[in-house]
Amino acid sequence: MAEEKMTRDEALARQGYRHACHVMLYGDSSAKLFGKIPIKHIVLMQMRFDGLLGFPGGLVNPSEETLEAGLSRELHEEVGVAVRVGVDDHMSSCVSSSCPRLITHSYIKKMTEAELKEIERAAVASATDHGLEVLGMVRVPLYFLKKGGGLPYFLSHSFISNSRAQLLSALRHCRLLSQGELKEAVRQAEQMRR
Ligand code: GTP
Ligand code: MN
Ligand code: MN
Ligand code: MN
Ligand code: MN
Ligand code: MN
Repeated sequence: MAEEKMTRDEALARQGYRHACHVMLYGDSSAKLFGKIPIKHIVLMQMRFDGLLGFPGGLVNPSEETLEAGLSRELHEEVGVAVRVGVDDHMSSCVSSSCPRLITHSYIKKMTEAELKEIERAAVASATDHGLEVLGMVRVPLYFLKKGGGLPYFLSHSFISNSRAQLLSALRHCRLLSQGELKEAVRQAEQMRR
């Protein structure tokens, strides 16, 4: 089923929909796995209460707060830092594949390695949702190891709503991986799920 993409303004003009905002927080890193494999980038997702992977964020009521203020509020609850997200960080909006009366808005925000590490600490130390709605933050492995290790195995897990497609388009949008690498990771992941 093809998703129907729309702009932020078109989404807000729709009547009778609820809205949810989620963000991919990411940045560059010079760290090396096993001292030799460059991890290149840190990309944050979370393990949700329902056992599914997804991005931090949540439901926002646009009659009470802006989409971006609501997203910052959810980030404060879920990762312990009210990361400021702006209209410029919006990537796309679409009707949810799992819930036809819900529009999901996806955002991307680049941060420094130090800021991302602080979020990982705060997510455990001070986020009110830690251990409840959020079981933990996870980093997305962007490299390829033998036998599907790395990104292919990660993509073979189960994801909430559109979040797997959201991850793939954000990685492409930010040029963290090439189109060819993404296609190969998806192909290997599909084989694992059989
Ligand atoms: P409560 O505080 O319990 O209300 O949850 P929440 O406000 O944090 O909402 P949640 O993050 O679960 O998001 C609301 C809905 O958006 C979910 O039921 C999913 O349908 C959808 N959703 C959740 N996470 C993602 C995500 O990462 N990407 C996308 N596209 N949709 C998501
Ligand atoms: Mn929440
Ligand atoms: Mn949430
Ligand atoms: Mn909420
Ligand atoms: Mn909540
Ligand atoms: Mn790169």
